[in-house]
Amino acid sequence: MSHIKAATLNGVATIEIARPEKKNALTVAMYQAMADALRAAVADPAVRAVLITGQPGVFTSGNDIEDFMARPPGSGGSHVAESPVFQFMQALLECDKPVVAAVTGAAVGIGTTMLLHCDFVYVSDEARLAMPFVGLGLVPEYASSLLVPQLMGHRRAAEKLLLAEPFTAEQAVECGIANAVLPATEVVNHARRVAERFNALPPGAVREAKRLMRAPQHDQVLKVIAEEGALFAARLRSPEAMEAFQAFFQKRKPDFSKFS
Ligand code: COA
Repeated sequence: MSHIKAATLNGVATIEIARPEKKNALTVAMYQAMADALRAAVADPAVRAVLITGQPGVFTSGNDIEDFMARPPGSGGSHVAESPVFQFMQALLECDKPVVAAVTGAAVGIGTTMLLHCDFVYVSDEARLAMPFVGLGLVPEYASSLLVPQLMGHRRAAEKLLLAEPFTAEQAVECGIANAVLPATEVVNHARRVAERFNALPPGAVREAKRLMRAPQHDQVLKVIAEEGALFAARLRSPEAMEAFQAFFQKRKPDFSKFS
């Protein structure tokens, strides 16, 4: 069964992450399905906007840690840029139609990172967001080391990226990651209504405006993504990351005391 449901209705291509039993953790197959769905939405003239959503109580817990350890980006002799996760983020970056995210609950790791590349973000009042990369022995990804400090300043970014502190939906709005907090029961409908507003707007002008908004730092974003990606892939094999991932599956706190 596919854990990604893609459907187009009334001008909106919805990509729904649907693996609640694993808190919507994203596998290689799921990233590939999301990349394909995004590219299909761009190619379909009937689509005016994209909606990315999750399940009640969870948006996504990020990379499926088991799958990620078994098949890390760049494994099997392939280049990091060929990996499905990279393909998905590349498709998100290249999407020239508005992308609206309905954060239905916990958004961990790439679950928060991907929001930095969406145009509108609506968050359930029950959601907690986190970018726990450093705590997992990893580094920030997909330009979050550039975009998070830019959005909220170095000090608040340090809490989220260096201390890996989770934050609430209200804090996500305060620091510029999200547009608004909605009751959990309303967040998807609200995000859908925003996406549907593009049915009444001229698609060519919307497309050009989105491109112009991103153009000034497009090259820098790509450069940072490449730099982070190489470090992230290398650190996935580091003893610090091994300890963090083993601790996750053994349901214990990681012990980094032996590392210098
Ligand atoms: N990868 C693989 N499995 C995951 C997962 C992930 N990212 N996130 C959750 N799961 C699995 C758990 O192992 C558990 O499986 P089990 O029922 O077979 O034991 C199941 O999903 C439920 O997770 P659980 O932790 O019990 O749910 P929770 O409601 O207590 O907490 C989260 C939800 C999202 C806060 C928590 O699961 C979490 O922090 N996950 C890890 C997120 C993470 O570090 N992501 C970054 C990866 S780079």
